Amino acid sequence: MAEKMYYPNSELAREAHCGSMEQYKRMHESSIKDPTQFWGEIAKQFYWETPAIEDKFFSYNFDLSKGDIFIRWMEGASTNISFNLLDKNVKSGNGDKIAFYWEGNDPEDYSRLTYRKLLEETCRFANVLKSKGVSNGDKVVIYMPMILELPIAMLACTRIGAVHSVVFAGYSSDSLADRILDSKAKVLITADGVWRGEKLLLLKNICDEAADKVTKHGHRLESCIVVAHLRRLNNPQGKTKGVNGTSNGTAMEMANVSWDDDRDVWWHDEMEDAEASCYPVWMAAEDPLFILYTSGSTGKPKGVLHTTAGYLIYAATTFKYVFDYHPGDIYWCTADCGWITGHTYVVYGPLANGATSVIFEGTPFYPENDRYWSIIDKYKVTQFYTAPTAIRSLMKFGDHLVKKHSLSTLKVLGSVGEPINTEAWLWFYNLVGHGKCSIADTFWQTETGGHVITPLPGATPMKPGSATFPFFGVLPELLDEDGRVIEGEGEGYLVFRRPWPGMMRTLYGNHQRFQNTYFDRFNGFYCTGDGARRDADGYLWVTGRIDDMLNVSGHLMSTAEVESVLAEHSSVAEAAVVSKSHPVKGQCLYCFITPTAGTTFDEKLQGELKRKVRERIGPFAQPDAIQHAPALPKTRSGKIMRRMLRKIAAGDRNIGDTSTLADETVIQLLFELRPCV
Ligand code: WT7
Repeated sequence: MAEKMYYPNSELAREAHCGSMEQYKRMHESSIKDPTQFWGEIAKQFYWETPAIEDKFFSYNFDLSKGDIFIRWMEGASTNISFNLLDKNVKSGNGDKIAFYWEGNDPEDYSRLTYRKLLEETCRFANVLKSKGVSNGDKVVIYMPMILELPIAMLACTRIGAVHSVVFAGYSSDSLADRILDSKAKVLITADGVWRGEKLLLLKNICDEAADKVTKHGHRLESCIVVAHLRRLNNPQGKTKGVNGTSNGTAMEMANVSWDDDRDVWWHDEMEDAEASCYPVWMAAEDPLFILYTSGSTGKPKGVLHTTAGYLIYAATTFKYVFDYHPGDIYWCTADCGWITGHTYVVYGPLANGATSVIFEGTPFYPENDRYWSIIDKYKVTQFYTAPTAIRSLMKFGDHLVKKHSLSTLKVLGSVGEPINTEAWLWFYNLVGHGKCSIADTFWQTETGGHVITPLPGATPMKPGSATFPFFGVLPELLDEDGRVIEGEGEGYLVFRRPWPGMMRTLYGNHQRFQNTYFDRFNGFYCTGDGARRDADGYLWVTGRIDDMLNVSGHLMSTAEVESVLAEHSSVAEAAVVSKSHPVKGQCLYCFITPTAGTTFDEKLQGELKRKVRERIGPFAQPDAIQHAPALPKTRSGKIMRRMLRKIAAGDRNIGDTSTLADETVIQLLFELRPCV
């Protein structure tokens, strides 16, 4: 049966950068036929200190039989990203335009930053970094809340050619330490702490723990630059609740962070004397811009590396077309800068378009469950970009909380992070968007740098749950198990035939792993790790991961990563982790534990294991279920049959053929031990 189509409203289409399917098809076709001409034209909007060599504008190899995989855009060109995002906007008369409105966790805390001020602060901080010995090519780790100093720190790195690696400030000290070690960063930027809803996170303490851990591995963190964020809040005592809801002192007292005089400095002290101008370092097109770690299916995080020129033009172009951004619009992306969404669609894409955006520090549930809707009305937001898990969690509170607010300025709604279910799509469309906004269900990955499959608001007729069609320059294919291309309707592995400018270039320090992870399975194609279906109208429907990865509330993680943490516990002989569907999070973690001989599997052990995962990876990774598994279903060669474990987790008795198992009775036993979750 054909799904209902939702057409872009005609007013939006009339004004849109791309206002019809004919125009989309024309542009997509020319982007594929002549990438050099297509992206060359776009590149003219930016400043290049030296131009690209024309016949070297685009080159790549996706064929392992011909040698190493490489992707190069705009060879010969040099530029500076912060110059294009800031100086260029100031010079063109937009200096007084607001770049960012900042909305704090507490509604009383807010501020704003113009393009001119953002440029000044960026230069000042670039000079601070220089004074700490940071230069071209050095790595800088950023572990910060969503405050204005976060984009300033990122942009300051780009000013001097340093490579930033932002670590989401919800990660544990172990995860932070791993990332500092892998990137070999000498400088860490953080804040004393932050309130998220009613919870206080003491970030500097976590950094201290991470610093101790890296020292034990023989790595020295030379500087830690700390924003005194808690201290300057309007309401520094915050809510009287402290860590875990206990009243254990004011935020001021708690922010009395420990200090290493040789290493730690306050951001404001350093900024005081720093000069407000800093000549940009001209970077080659393929010089690294940033590293962002993402989960890998083997457990060790992968340092996805993005470079300069291609990323800039791709972030700028996707932002412009996918959100249909026009001057005067107010754009808000709820993602944290610790994720790729925050890189491309909080910082780089919006600023490259001279846009005005909202940055929000808090949570959708504080002080009330309508905080998102209040912010949309407060700033008259026109484009709102969020995640299906957030939508589902807000749906729970009922429609009246949305209806209390006007939301009349909205034009485009975006979704990212996982497939959006029809119910959430329709709620977003009808209730939040009043049936007049286009929904951009944007499929992409940390690795893709920007949107790769997405509707364009003024052009694409929407089907709820379909990411629809490829963006300019993107050539998706569906492959069967044997790597044959599926034409027309069908379902298979989602792969891409050639690179677009914003695609990652390598995994930092491990090009071999880059090739193995993404190109080995189907030579000649970039393999996303997702499955997808193409319907009779050519619409693409991403169905989710087909590797051992799972997506909890839009956070991608690997089952292996969680298994290795669980297996470290002295009472655990073996652990197997699978995903189970969850009404709000999308997926959750379901863990099977084989205790060591003589150990009792009790609530205490379950609690310890949950805590261990929280501590080692981060709170978002906490398992929902821990099941006793005296044995695991294995083949005779010892391979764990996760397919069967997924069925057991789901309570689905339709397990299929078990004859390959070394011991078939295990299945029945595991069903009996299944906890009520
Ligand atoms: C994985 C990438 C892209 C920024 C946030 C996540 C899933 C993402 C969609 C979507 C279906 C989606 C995929 C993908 N995913 N967006 N619109 N429809 N699935 O970045 O952590 O690198 O995760 O998220 O499974 O592979 P990431």
